[in-house]
Amino acid sequence: MADEGGVRPARPHQRLTPDGRRMREVLTYSRRGARFTPRQQQAWEAHHEDWVIPDEAVDEPGFTWSAWFGREVPLVVEIGSGVGEATAALAPSRAAYDVLAFEVWRPGVADALWRVAEAGATNVRFCSVDAVWSMEHLVAPEGLVELWTFFPDPWHKKKHHKRRLVTPEFAALATSRLTPGAVWRLATDWADYAEQMVEVLDDEPGLEGGVVPRWEERPVTKFERKGLAAGRSITDLMYVRR
Ligand SMILES: C[S@@+](CC[C@H](N)C(=O)[O-])C[C@H]1O[C@@H](n2cnc3c(N)ncnc32)[C@H](O)[C@@H]1O
Repeated sequence: MADEGGVRPARPHQRLTPDGRRMREVLTYSRRGARFTPRQQQAWEAHHEDWVIPDEAVDEPGFTWSAWFGREVPLVVEIGSGVGEATAALAPSRAAYDVLAFEVWRPGVADALWRVAEAGATNVRFCSVDAVWSMEHLVAPEGLVELWTFFPDPWHKKKHHKRRLVTPEFAALATSRLTPGAVWRLATDWADYAEQMVEVLDDEPGLEGGVVPRWEERPVTKFERKGLAAGRSITDLMYVRR
């Protein structure tokens, strides 16, 4: 738990103005449909009790990730796991680590459940609480050995750029959560977001790295396929916490 002792501020969607209205928040995602396909429903029923951390659980005093993994080993975080293609491909070779996947889109989590089950991994848990809030309040400083952000929402329109995940503020937060030597891997199919990532992450004094050749361990995901089909090129980045 990162917020030692004190009362944690309300999660996004639960913050209220003094007169009781829901507070407008700048979030890196928009809410999408929550309807399950039959396959997602089946996977959800089979695995959510074991592998999905209920949103309300994080409000419990004394909440820890390790209690939900049932062990205490180094932690890897993926932000925006989508339908879990990268999660399911990368988790099995990291059996000695716990992999915590943040994804606010429930049908995506349900899809990820069957992918992870099919991959035979038991070291993955999913959390649908905003990853930015969770990184700040629930992940300990120097608590991560790896961080993955593959194809974060591009928010193309200029007026929406403030919703992009990779900003100087988030870079500082994420860096503080990485243990020295930990690796942050990113990928995007949007050239201007790749440029923003390089600019922001090069400016973060706690990080060292840049654009790298495609990470061969990373599988081609749904959003990568979309980008390629539309003729965009993919940029992989790797930064190491100093
Ligand atoms: C463009 S998709 C990419 C999904 C996947 N990584 C892939 O490559 O196919 C980005 C995902 O990030 C999720 N997301 C964005 N901001 C988030 C946040 N703050 N917390 C949790 N999930 C988030 C969205 O719901 C969306 O599914």
